[in-house]
Amino acid sequence: MSDIAKRNAAQAALDLVQPDMVLGLGTGSTAAIFVRLLAERVAQGLRVVGTPTSEATDRLARSLGLAIVSPDELERIDLTIDGADEFDPDLNLIKGGGAALLREKIIAEASDRMVVITDPSKQVEHLGGFALPVEINGFGAELTRRRIHWRMAEAGMTVATSSWRMATAESLLHTDGGHLILDLACGVIADPIELSVLLDNLPGVVEHGLFIGMADRVIVGEDAGARFVDPR
Ligand code: A5P
Repeated sequence: MSDIAKRNAAQAALDLVQPDMVLGLGTGSTAAIFVRLLAERVAQGLRVVGTPTSEATDRLARSLGLAIVSPDELERIDLTIDGADEFDPDLNLIKGGGAALLREKIIAEASDRMVVITDPSKQVEHLGGFALPVEINGFGAELTRRRIHWRMAEAGMTVATSSWRMATAESLLHTDGGHLILDLACGVIADPIELSVLLDNLPGVVEHGLFIGMADRVIVGEDAGARFVDPR
């Protein structure tokens, strides 16, 4: 995705921001462009506060002078703008390519509106081409991994190959919450809701990157502008 297209998506999302909103600030390169554009608007006098979905976004937003509020101080969020790794015609998402899926989902769930900013390559008929990130507690992590494979096979789902996300060639990546990320190469996910429920019910799975029915709209940035995709 070109930076122009990302910027066009972020710019279209900025048009949705109203004065005095509480904004969820997403994670990833497209969300970072949105944060930068938002900071320019704030410098011109717009009053909003943001609640970041990752330490990286928190650092960026603070460095640009945005007012930051902890989710502990909030009951709801007006609008969250975040990226995604894939979206389908129902606007179900795969997220977590940036390892921030747990915080992203907490903030998205508490938001009146979640708008995704992305590019055409992420629009798919069926989720699963992008390996599904699953956040795993470190205790018994290999056991949890085997249980995921076993439960998926038992449910007749494509048995994924899986790999632990690495920070470097030698060391595992740890999320902002101190957990591991298991990337599940599922292939086509025939029933994202069924897989979401299966993973929700497995101890050791802290969260997973299937965002079902959470996005209200996707803004697809292109080199010559942006288009809106609403759920079918
Ligand atoms: C972060 O964990 C992800 O959910 C991101 O939103 C996703 O990886 C999109 O990132 P880009 O905007 O860099 O494509």
